[in-house]
Amino acid sequence: MSTQIVRPARTLQGSLTLPGDKSISHRYAMLGGLASGTTRLSNFSTGADPHSTLACMEALGAKVEKHEDKSISITGLAGSWPGLEATLDCGNSGSTMRMLAGIVAPHPGTYTFIGDHSLTVRPMERIRKPLMQMGAEIHLTDGHAPMTIHGRPLKAISFDTPIPSAQVKTAVLFAGLQAEGTTTLSEAIRTRDHSEQALRAFGATLSRTKGDDGIDRLSINGGQKLTGVDATVPGDLSSAAFFLCAALLFEDSNLVLDSLGMNPTRSALLDVIVALGGKIQVLTVEEHHGELIGTIRVNRAPGGLKGIDINGALSAQLIDELPVLAAIAPYTKDGIRIRDARELRIKESDRIALVAKNLKAMGATFTEYEDGLDIPGGQTLHGATIDSGLDHRITMAFAIAALRAEGETEIDGAEAAAVSFPEFFQNLDALAQR
Ligand code: S3P
Repeated sequence: MSTQIVRPARTLQGSLTLPGDKSISHRYAMLGGLASGTTRLSNFSTGADPHSTLACMEALGAKVEKHEDKSISITGLAGSWPGLEATLDCGNSGSTMRMLAGIVAPHPGTYTFIGDHSLTVRPMERIRKPLMQMGAEIHLTDGHAPMTIHGRPLKAISFDTPIPSAQVKTAVLFAGLQAEGTTTLSEAIRTRDHSEQALRAFGATLSRTKGDDGIDRLSINGGQKLTGVDATVPGDLSSAAFFLCAALLFEDSNLVLDSLGMNPTRSALLDVIVALGGKIQVLTVEEHHGELIGTIRVNRAPGGLKGIDINGALSAQLIDELPVLAAIAPYTKDGIRIRDARELRIKESDRIALVAKNLKAMGATFTEYEDGLDIPGGQTLHGATIDSGLDHRITMAFAIAALRAEGETEIDGAEAAAVSFPEFFQNLDALAQR
């Protein structure tokens, strides 16, 4: 395990071009592997997770080339492949395991999905259930990986997602694309729509309609063929979150974020940054394959940082950003109260428990709930030894909390940042002025 020391900073200044979004990279890699022709992706995520997806697509027979300029080419399988026995190592990536299940389930062969210790205890029943309804044969080990899928033809279903999960939605959409009939899916809380945008980019048709009950329904016809694309992956907003929150911590901070993914189903954080007392200027914005990519400038508005209540649909939309918001909460004036975020307990770690443990180590007071945390503002934290739990977002969240603490902070297991953002500590050093 490697340890990283983070010293307090005076301010945060500079500009940053963000590496490609993890969620979008996974989807482009999977669909590029399934499509016919060659998909060329620039600004593909540098994180370990999307590279686990690429390795899985190679194990299925797709040809993956990694170029020096960090772009990736994938020559796809044109919708089918001969039956095979493949071991698909998903590493730390729940997205890979859950979404890829929907890609392989209709194809002849036996697919054994494995992962690291953290992934092996994460729930997989949530994708097994709808895919089984479609006719898939999926075996789990106590509800978790190792997961074995015996491929067979699937039929369309109508599915109401019981939990707001883009991963579950995606598994069903990817299976629905390859099933017989029209698959319909409803979401009571709208989750990130990268799969819908990516499917369209690769040539599929799908529709979204609002029912009389006010609930959105997505439909996709089975049997559609995909064609490879040339695409640019927008920068990762969930990685940008660490620097957006860091910029809030200093009165004179000035941060420009370039190539930033600003998909509206993903960008609730920008509203929260403004609500807390940030000032965001959108300098440019463009659309590529249904995704918005922009450049923004972030400063802190005059006056201290306000607080915020995060609950309901907002908790689901901010799920990956909650650890860093919790980590800066003690430095706000009015504190941050997070509820309806029970899902945090079954991410790469129990993120509520680890945030609590590390806030406590830094001397913060707070109340922990089953589904969130109440963290009062106006607190002074001290440097401490942080347990990352080998969870990338915990590592980076507490590196940001360390910028305003008294004394140095030591982060154990800091190498976990590479799961989504290998350049994180290098970027932090360049932007944090001491
Ligand atoms: C993701 C969806 C979210 C998120 C994860 C990536 C995606 O998970 O936490 O980091 O790419 O669809 P859930 O959909 O399970 O909430």
